[in-house]
Amino acid sequence: MPHAPFGSCLPSTPRAFTHRPATRRLATGAALCALIATALAPSAHAQIPLEAEMSARATAAAVPPTPAVPGPWMDTKLSPDERARLLESQLTLDERIGMLHGIMALPYKIAGLPDGVVWSAGYIPGVPRLGIPALRETDASLGVTTPHRLRPDGATGLPAGLAIAATWSPELAYQGGAMVGDEATRKGFNVLLGGGVNLTREPRNGRNFEYLGEDPLLAGTLAGQAIRGTQDQHIVATVKHFAINSQESSRRAVNAVIDEAPLRESDLLAFQFAIEAGKPGSVMCSYNRVNGPWACDNDFLLNKVLKGDWAYPGWVMSDWGATPALSAAMNGLDQQSGEQIDKEVFFDKPLKAAVEGGQIPAARVSDMVRRILRSLFATGVFDVKAPTGPIDFQAHADITRTVAEQGIVLLKNRGDVLPLSTQGGATKGKRIAVIGGLADAGVLSGGGSSQVLAGDGPNHDYKNGAFIHIGGTGELVHISDAVYQPDAPLAAIEAKAGKDTVFFADGRYVSESVVAAKEADIAIVFATQWNIEGQDVPDLSLPQGQDAVIAAVAAANPNTIVVLETGGPVAMPWLDKVAGVVEAWYPGTRGGQAIANILFGDVNPSGHLPITFPRDESQLPSPVLAGFYEHDRTKLFDAHYPEGADVGYRWYAAKGLTPLFPFGYGLSYTTFTQGGLKAAAGTKAGEAMKISFTVTNTGKRAGQDVGQVYLVSGPQGSRTRLLGFGRVDLKPGEKKTVSVSVDPRLLADFDTQAHAWKVAAGSYTVALGSDAQSLGEKQTVTLKAQTLKP
Ligand code: BGC
Repeated sequence: MPHAPFGSCLPSTPRAFTHRPATRRLATGAALCALIATALAPSAHAQIPLEAEMSARATAAAVPPTPAVPGPWMDTKLSPDERARLLESQLTLDERIGMLHGIMALPYKIAGLPDGVVWSAGYIPGVPRLGIPALRETDASLGVTTPHRLRPDGATGLPAGLAIAATWSPELAYQGGAMVGDEATRKGFNVLLGGGVNLTREPRNGRNFEYLGEDPLLAGTLAGQAIRGTQDQHIVATVKHFAINSQESSRRAVNAVIDEAPLRESDLLAFQFAIEAGKPGSVMCSYNRVNGPWACDNDFLLNKVLKGDWAYPGWVMSDWGATPALSAAMNGLDQQSGEQIDKEVFFDKPLKAAVEGGQIPAARVSDMVRRILRSLFATGVFDVKAPTGPIDFQAHADITRTVAEQGIVLLKNRGDVLPLSTQGGATKGKRIAVIGGLADAGVLSGGGSSQVLAGDGPNHDYKNGAFIHIGGTGELVHISDAVYQPDAPLAAIEAKAGKDTVFFADGRYVSESVVAAKEADIAIVFATQWNIEGQDVPDLSLPQGQDAVIAAVAAANPNTIVVLETGGPVAMPWLDKVAGVVEAWYPGTRGGQAIANILFGDVNPSGHLPITFPRDESQLPSPVLAGFYEHDRTKLFDAHYPEGADVGYRWYAAKGLTPLFPFGYGLSYTTFTQGGLKAAAGTKAGEAMKISFTVTNTGKRAGQDVGQVYLVSGPQGSRTRLLGFGRVDLKPGEKKTVSVSVDPRLLADFDTQAHAWKVAAGSYTVALGSDAQSLGEKQTVTLKAQTLKP
């Protein structure tokens, strides 16, 4: 059985928590499983039997902060490294070891949790005699989570990472990160376990919705800004899952096999950009193996690349239960997380014994601790008092709604069927059928550790949404429900409809959907695809017969518009038959309003795809997902990546394939032209090329466009890579210039012999693109050879 968090609620010997005596004992073994099962039962949220325990473990904000202890390390004029060195030198070996491992802070496989531990993702005790705070860790990139509804507080949920990426807006990514950081600190946490930046290498990966798409520049830039936003709230952010955790199927058994150069030019480059821009205090290594060793016990990834080549100064924490052995301590792992779901707490007694026996140098343990302290100093956790006032939920609702609005992608708009305000809407007395997708209840969100429950503290908004048990074979599905955040699109559409008549059919039956469609002037079908951590999707179809409903509705009504709430790309066998398609992803806790604002034209759509939508699985580098049909999730196997560095759109370009919708694609209710491309060799360090171009709004409405510049060929031949982008807000007739500074690594190859990035001398052709396959004006620039550090 894999060490699934909650996944294997089998009778097991609970591990006593050893940091402090447990004063509050929870049920153990089978009783604990029953308790978790009851607390987590879909229908139990109205009368959770753990009320007393829940309120005792309400929020970390109720826990008194650890008072600072005066010492030279509190001198803010010293560097974080120096402060960490001074403080670390005061610690005993036991205190050091105590900081290097921690629990999943949930009543699971554990005999008791220390007082003051609130239910959340993780907890590592501090050293109060020296003013070192406990690490109170919460997930994650899309908002502060309430794991398994075991705390009474909700939070503002951002749209999916793919929606954030579809904004192509570093500013919005920053604001989202800052919003989550603010809520986390006000809830008393000091470590946020986000942002995730794994590339969408496998479009069927069940966690793609948490990440930022398939391109290293776009994903890395936005992750870096989200991390910066979070850490500006004086909380440590965590970039994850390092690395090449490209699928969830057998994530604890799969070995990602890929050569060093393509790895550096794709997945690792996304991390490199994110770390450079965001300077996250921690990095979380992943569950999978990479070219043999486990990612958390991987000298190449952790020591050579991360801490060596990139000189990363923060700490590496394991994913929960991803520490395979004590050897990880010498292979670069600094902290064992979620220890009760590992085989052993390697970083407790075994680590101490190894230090005392001389197998692991004491200096390495000091290094591990210094890295943690350094990040706490660098982010201000020691120096800045966490805010205590209430969360400004109204302001945060505006942020999440704005991200959703700007991340929704209009994929098709035949005959300008949208916006509805020009069709009917408001006053024209049309009949609008809203069909399916639980649009009457809410908007879908992704499951797993990133699951946010909407709510402003005691109001428990989330209880008004819908919790649907879907099930499956993944690690977490049997204790998780699909959560529909309670901002129902139907209500938001009704609120805008004026004299229009809006009626709803739930979409479960084709016949009923067809009747509704026939009665309507406009049919809006909501189609959902629930994705969850720990489980991939087998193919690109919409589940539960929704493709058939859409096809039948489209046959019955020519004005059919499909609104997708999906965690990744889906095939659209009905595409030619429908008039409009809107990809709303998982749109967050104000998603219903955002969707209605787009449909009615209060907001002009401006999202652009951060991933390619394939026509079907035959276009994928691996048409069958490795390990998907393997039921023994512990069976080790290799996943190969024939695409190498050519992830996503680069694969389609290299193979001459035309996808359903290309990376970068997105329509607007206005029109734009891009032109005036100028490209020249860079003039400063870190700039290979300087590019500028103009974007003009040639339509009649204000709107935002995303200008994109791609490399189309270099001295090595043709190759497509996104080099830069810029989002511009334009009034009708207005024109703006976008300037882009090109990072040389985007033009380079990674030379493993020379252990360096190499930009070859020669001609480079760049092109303006409204997406990765619609390239316009071109310019060629001659560059000198350049070698850059890894
Ligand atoms: C996930 C991480 C998460 C951790 C703590 C793991 O299952 O992979 O992303 O941060 O749990 O909840």
